[in-house]
Amino acid sequence: MSILVSAISEQRLWQRHEAMAAHGATPRGGVNRQALSQADIDARRTICSWARELGLGTFTDALGNFFIRLEGSDPSLPPVLTGSHLDSQPTGGRFDGVYGVLAGFEVLQTLVESGLRPRRSIEVVSWMNEEGSRFAPGMMGSAGFAGTRNLVEILPVRDVDGVSVAEAVAEVHRQMPEVALRPLGYTPHCYVEAHIEQGPVLEAQRQTIGIVTGIQGKRTFRVTVTGEEAHAGTTPHQDRKDALMSASAMLQALKVRFLDPQDITRFTVGLFRIEPCAPSVVPARAVFSIDIRHPLSERLTELGDAVAPLCHQYAAPCAVQVEELSTALSLEFPESIRQTIEQAAAELGLGHMRLLSAAGHDARYLHEQCETGMIFVPCLKGVSHHESESATSADLAAGARVLGEVLWARAR
Ligand code: GLV
Ligand code: MN
Ligand code: MN
Repeated sequence: MSILVSAISEQRLWQRHEAMAAHGATPRGGVNRQALSQADIDARRTICSWARELGLGTFTDALGNFFIRLEGSDPSLPPVLTGSHLDSQPTGGRFDGVYGVLAGFEVLQTLVESGLRPRRSIEVVSWMNEEGSRFAPGMMGSAGFAGTRNLVEILPVRDVDGVSVAEAVAEVHRQMPEVALRPLGYTPHCYVEAHIEQGPVLEAQRQTIGIVTGIQGKRTFRVTVTGEEAHAGTTPHQDRKDALMSASAMLQALKVRFLDPQDITRFTVGLFRIEPCAPSVVPARAVFSIDIRHPLSERLTELGDAVAPLCHQYAAPCAVQVEELSTALSLEFPESIRQTIEQAAAELGLGHMRLLSAAGHDARYLHEQCETGMIFVPCLKGVSHHESESATSADLAAGARVLGEVLWARAR
């Protein structure tokens, strides 16, 4: 075991999760820390204060990504990058995303305190809006950093209150003037993200470390159904343009189309809104989201291509608009990084296995730029995107130790 790994502190890492969980804490023990919200800003502030104590630099960019940098002995070399995200779903848990940031920070602290200086700089990042709940679609910060999406697409996106990403990022910059603004994007030497699995595999297989082979594909859509307000008591059914009735016919048809007896296709409508949403008014507008996932890109393409035709088929007498918000096909991480992770887990005597990520991650976009991999640790019963999300301090520390070894191997 290297000095670095033995110095990783399980207790400190756990306490930091507790400190982060206070930012956006919900009464049921989870967090609501949506992207660029005050809770997100406060979480960044807390990390900034820890970084300052260690003499580490902090940076941000035009998308409000947040970086903590440990300078290497040759700062001209592209840095080794790690991290994840501090934002959460509205009823999110205490570990999704924040673990990857804190595990990376723990590695930096351990390096600083042990006097080990890597040749390459190591940066820990919290990507802006991984979750996509406040601003859709998600992974804006990493996609913009990697150049897959541009500022012109991202900055005008608005939340339900009409606040744009541009305005929300400006507010973060205003409240944190001590964080230096630098140009958006660079090509890292490599990117390694630690994350809770968010699924049941590691726990069921009694393994501590997941070496992530890749990420399954996902397509997301926004469907807007437009009808007309009318009086609930006086308007005959033949004269109505009821947006809710059309939308529910669409949903029924989509559900049947995507039904998969093998449970490989995952189909979710997580957001549904009607307007004006009054008991005695025929709904004039319905807006809903579609999230489809499948590990086979061909199948995913086929499934996604069925969305618009089905929605149009069931729209009458209303009008429908189907917008595809994001398309991300399945990907495989390179064998080189998987082997480095596997070797680190084996050397530390940790049970490990390879597995595909069923959830999406910012690593998807970094994969387009540089050698990228992911390390998973188990979470209780595989539950995630839920306030009860839970993980053990021992598993979190084990993942941080593996991360430390991998970062050191790439940065030394
Ligand atoms: C990420 O949060 C996802 O929805 O997969
Ligand atoms: Mn996440
Ligand atoms: Mn998530």
